[in-house]
Amino acid sequence: MSADGSSSGSDPDNSRPAKRVPARPLVLVGLMGAGKSAIGRRLAGRLGIPFVDVDAEIEKAAGCSISDYFERYGEAAFRVGERKVISRLLDGPVAVLASGGGAYMDAETRALIGEKAISVWLRAELDVLVERTSRRNDRPLLHRGDPRAILADLMDKRYPIYSQADIVVDSDEGPADQMTRRVVGAVRRHLNRHPELAAPC
Ligand code: S3P
Repeated sequence: MSADGSSSGSDPDNSRPAKRVPARPLVLVGLMGAGKSAIGRRLAGRLGIPFVDVDAEIEKAAGCSISDYFERYGEAAFRVGERKVISRLLDGPVAVLASGGGAYMDAETRALIGEKAISVWLRAELDVLVERTSRRNDRPLLHRGDPRAILADLMDKRYPIYSQADIVVDSDEGPADQMTRRVVGAVRRHLNRHPELAAPC
């Protein structure tokens, strides 16, 4: 793990187009509200590669919403479907994938991501997650009680696992474009350190 994103705000190169493009998919991991979709979309634009929202792909494959999926089949079945969809996407064209918050917690999914992708953890504080998740009502896990308490509990359980990601970037309440520059800088530094993971130009 390299927590190299946390100090990247001072990278003077951040505003330039990203020169190096990864040869593998970039998988954004992190809790609900960390900004995976918002940042992922912008990151993909900066890198000139497609963006894929994994939850949306699951909904397409299942023909129902994530909430309905949880209700009808339960969380365990959802994780199996999620793993299949991620596995398929990892074998597709290089893209930025915004994974659902629980995906990286599944040992098999995590191993697949480790083998075939570059993982980026968007690490956020509790207040940020509570504020951002309060804007939407389509996350079944947060309907089970007090969202703040649920998110705090998920942080305890998940952050030690998320910390296994290749790159860690702090996600704060700053503008999405600023966050995206931070991630671009962190990815660029990772590719400079691991040139074998960069696409030949
Ligand atoms: C989940 C996060 C959600 C979605 C599902 C379960 C989780 O995705 O996959 O509701 O276990 O944290 P987002 O993280 O994109 O909200």
